[in-house]
Parts: sequence; structure tokens; C-alpha cells
Amino acid sequence: VTAEKGGFDHFMLKEIHEQPKAYRDTMLGRIDESGRKIVFKDLKLSEEQIRSITNIQIVACGTAYHAGLVGRSVIEQLVRIPVENDVASEYRYRNPIVTPETLVIVVSQSGETADTLAALREAKSKGAHVLAITNVVGSSIAREADDVLGTLAGPEIAVASTKAYSSQLIAFYLFGLYLAQVRGTLAEEAAAEIIAAMGSLPEQVESMLSNTEAIKDYAEQISKHQHLFFIGRGQDYAVAQEGSLKLKEISYIHSEAYAAGELKHGTLALIEDGIPVIALATQEDVMEKTVSNIKEVKARGADVMVITYEEHVVNLLKSVDQAFAIPKTLPVLTAALSVVPLQLLAYYASLALGHDVDKPRNLAKSVTVE
Ligand code: G6P
Repeated sequence: VTAEKGGFDHFMLKEIHEQPKAYRDTMLGRIDESGRKIVFKDLKLSEEQIRSITNIQIVACGTAYHAGLVGRSVIEQLVRIPVENDVASEYRYRNPIVTPETLVIVVSQSGETADTLAALREAKSKGAHVLAITNVVGSSIAREADDVLGTLAGPEIAVASTKAYSSQLIAFYLFGLYLAQVRGTLAEEAAAEIIAAMGSLPEQVESMLSNTEAIKDYAEQISKHQHLFFIGRGQDYAVAQEGSLKLKEISYIHSEAYAAGELKHGTLALIEDGIPVIALATQEDVMEKTVSNIKEVKARGADVMVITYEEHVVNLLKSVDQAFAIPKTLPVLTAALSVVPLQLLAYYASLALGHDVDKPRNLAKSVTVE
């Protein structure tokens, strides 16, 4: 059994460690030799269709939905097309407004999630072009979608999704860059800079995975708590939501992810002495704002751990209790790195509590019934 886990104690840890390879494989063949252009050979969506897209809807469930939240940020920044996110179980019943100029992106690791498949059918019946981002190319969702953008993460066994999520992010970066290239919304130089930074992501993940002691220690601390909070702004908020879900799924610790600026509209009432707050502070444009939110929770007794870039650690340590540095990348790509410590945190918290990491109670890897 350890053999199929590649020497790791659990599939989840093995899959966390497979992320550098998953990133490389998902990028392979999709960046041209010059390193300046994205190529999608089998895409049916024509350049003319891409130029006429008026809006994008990203539909998914669970962790894939969270990847879509990052996808929205990436596409809106690079392409300036309005994007909506929906959970599939809502989308399919809300009579969504779709036109032939709407691109619908469904995201699904398994390609078999019942609600996501139904959402795809709903979008198609209304005339949308549907692109599926999926890890299983022979799946129902892949077969029924107009286009498939495969993530090459390899089979994911642990119920809690890790490498599938982060490979979905890579797919969104590639697709966002491709849309920008066709619509001319990004200078070639800027695109080349993003592509180069993407090339460094696998090694950067490897470097984070080579030293996990600090996160393990922190996980042991938080495993003694019943409630905690994740806060962040922008993409940090999107990643916070995924970090919170991961922790809930396998450690059963209750947590909430909050847009940092929204805390004061209610949730701040729950902050009391000693409650752990995990703050993601990587987005430079809102750094000061996030720091002021950190100070708000600190002032109410929270025990704050921040995930940020090395260059901000010294300054942030004036306002927080602990800091964890991630390698430097471009703001648009941060999620592919900042999610890693949160995956490890969930893993080690579950381990510390003695839970079944790979098979959490009440959850299934693939939800094929409604
Ligand atoms: C289940 C899994 C989650 C997953 C979700 C969507 O709930 O436990 O990890 O994110 O389904 O699955 P999909 O295969 O569509 O990405």
C-alpha cells in the first residue's frame, strides 16, 4: 500500500508533492518555443468567436468552484471580460442568462459531478459554447463539452483535492493568456513575463515542500482549537476559501473564510482572545488594507498567522504572531503557491487529530448523484 502511495503515508501528501509535476505537465506543449505565446491546438472555439465573447460564466462544485474564483480574477485582469462564478447546483436552477456570445467554463476534476454535468447541459441548451477544464479526458463532462482543456495532474485518489485544484489554476492562467493574446488585451512583453514566471512555479512549489516543519508545528497548534478564520482580499480571499474548505474536509475544525474588509460587518463579533486567524497577504495593491484588517483582529485578541512574501515578513511581524513566507511570483499567479501551505496545514491538522486523512467522514471523491 505504501508503494502505491509512492513512499508517502497518505495519498493526499503524495498528491501535494506531485504538484510540481502536475504544473509542468499541464503547461507542456501549450507554450510555444519563443516562450511568448500560448498554443491550443485542438480548440474548436475560433478566434472570431473569442473576439465576440461578451461574458464568461465559470461553473463548478467544491474545490473546483474555488479554482474558478481565481480563474475569474485572472481572466478579468488579463482580458477585461466580465466573469461570473456559480456553484453548479445553483446555476442549473437559476435560469441563467446565456447568449451565443457567452462562454461557459465548467471545472471538474472527475468530469462526473452530477450538478456540474447538468449545468453544462443547461448552458448548452441555451446556446453557450462550453469549455470544460477537467482532469479526466474520457469523462461525461469532457464528452459533452464543446471544448476540453485537460489538466494533467494524473489520478487523484485522496478525497480532499490538492493537485487537481492547483492544476486547474494553471489551466486558467494558460487560457486567460490565450484569450488576451487573441483579443489583444495584453502586451506581448507582459505575456512573456507571466509565462516566464509560470515556468518557475514548479521549482518554487518544490522549495516550499522541502521544508514543512513550520507549517506542521502551526497545524499542531490549531488542532487544539474548535473555530478559526481565514482572511484575505482579492485572490488571497479566493485562496482563503479553498484553505478553509480543505481544513473543514479533513480536520473537521470549523473555519470561515472572510473577505478581510467584510469582517467588520458581523464576523468581527466572533473574534475573541486566542482565536486563530490565518491572514493571506500577498496582493501588493491591497497590502495596506489587509494589514489594517489584521490589526483589527489583533486588537480583539486574535492569534494571527500571516502568509506573505519574504520581503513583507519583517514589517508584518510587527502586527502578527507568526509569519510564513512563500516564494515571490507575480500577483496574478500567487494562488498557485499560496495554496500549498494551506494544503499542508489541513493535512497536518487532520493527522494531529488522528482522522482518516484520505477518506474523511461523509464525503465522496466524486458526487455523481444530485
Ligand atoms: C466532491 C469532492 C471535492 C470536489 C467536488 C467537485 O465534493 O469531495 O473534492 O471538489 O466533489 O468534484 P469535481 O470532480 O467536479 O471537481
